[in-house]
Amino acid sequence: MKPKRNNTMTKKKVAVKKTQADQNPMRFTASGIISKKRDGKKLTNDEIRWFIDGLTSGQIADYQMTALLMAIFINGLDKKETAYLTDAMLYSGDVVEFEGRDVIDKHSTGGVGDKASFILAPIAAACGVKVPMIAGRGLGHTGGTVDKIESVKGFKTELPLKKFKEMVEKEGLSLIGQTKTIAPADKKIYALRDVTGTVESIPLITASIMSKKLAEGASGLVMDIKTGSGAFMSTLPKARALAKSLRDTASRFDKSMMTMITDMNQPLGLAIGNSLEIVESIETLRGKGPKDLTEISVQLAGGMIYLAGKAKSHKAGIAKAKKSIKDGSALKVFKDMIKNQGGDELVVDDYSRLPMAKEVYEVKAQKAGYISQVNCKALGLHCVSLGGGRMKASDKIDFGVGLVLTKKIGDKVKKGETLLKVYHNKSQLKLVEQIDVAINKSDIKLSATKPKTTKPLVYEIKEN
Ligand code: URA
Repeated sequence: MKPKRNNTMTKKKVAVKKTQADQNPMRFTASGIISKKRDGKKLTNDEIRWFIDGLTSGQIADYQMTALLMAIFINGLDKKETAYLTDAMLYSGDVVEFEGRDVIDKHSTGGVGDKASFILAPIAAACGVKVPMIAGRGLGHTGGTVDKIESVKGFKTELPLKKFKEMVEKEGLSLIGQTKTIAPADKKIYALRDVTGTVESIPLITASIMSKKLAEGASGLVMDIKTGSGAFMSTLPKARALAKSLRDTASRFDKSMMTMITDMNQPLGLAIGNSLEIVESIETLRGKGPKDLTEISVQLAGGMIYLAGKAKSHKAGIAKAKKSIKDGSALKVFKDMIKNQGGDELVVDDYSRLPMAKEVYEVKAQKAGYISQVNCKALGLHCVSLGGGRMKASDKIDFGVGLVLTKKIGDKVKKGETLLKVYHNKSQLKLVEQIDVAINKSDIKLSATKPKTTKPLVYEIKEN
């Protein structure tokens, strides 16, 4: 059985749909539902929907939602309950619907230096995929796609959903930020989870991601699940469990899904910071990007091309993706997307049009050796401390600051050689010197011999 809300979930030809709660407040009580989950029992579709609709309309208090979240965190949700929760959160707001099976998006669980969206979305669109990308802002040590693209002067990340849909259909690609009307229940729930120790729950993460992704109307999704020191899912078993839960939920909603578990034990590519990452993305679209970033981007784009039915296999999708870099068509789509969304498209050929910090400080290695470990999270936080991310929601981002690595794990380093460059403002010299100390002391570790095992870039690919 696939969970359906008033049979609207699979209805076509509707641009943006808002469904109303189907509530029966006499039948349930919040404390009854919380107690049921507290005692390890399964919740029904109606109970979950009643609770989430109550949260959205303000009838359920934050403390009641928090109690249910903790009960779910401890006792879990099965596949059905996870789908019911996803459905309830999805229909707490607007839902965009597209016709056809060639509308594919990608979602990443987030990492440091992860700018693959700017590369794979234009690649996929250049290969005939329709890409509706509703992305997030920076969270903690990880940067956000929306913040990064806003380094391009004039780029509008807030568009009405109707315009967003038109753009995807006509141009093949649109990139906007979360709107207030997409899965508003997730917004409330995520804020509560963040401060109540209930973030790291597979069913809650699944419902959170899937409710937002299903609301944007894609027929299929490629999920990049990061694992490693800089990732949300720090171990491979945890990443596998999340991948399975996401695939199970996707198939209950009749969506195709490819999950890729990829490495986040060091930043993806070399650049960390908003403008710096845009430059690296454009270079990658020109075919001159770092190897790991190029590889991940074509793998993910290849998956999107395949799921959209534009290639017979994932391998054939990857070949098409590579061709779109070589023939310049992906870069053209990126430039057109900037123009279509009101941005300064000339940045593509002139990086000086991007905000860029004037001062560059080189962190030098204090001894010789091989890079054996990189503390991804610490590097992400250095970028935040320079102003490249937010400590609190109201903080303003400095698009021009950041870090650029010159070495990656396994590389040989001579004493005095540059490990990374810090792009900063004049007034930040003291902070930069502290960053230098932290990097040499603990954030980048050197070993006397070359590390024997290097982690694979892609651990596992599965689809349904
Ligand atoms: N990303 C989301 O959107 N939600 C989560 O719960 C975790 C990561």
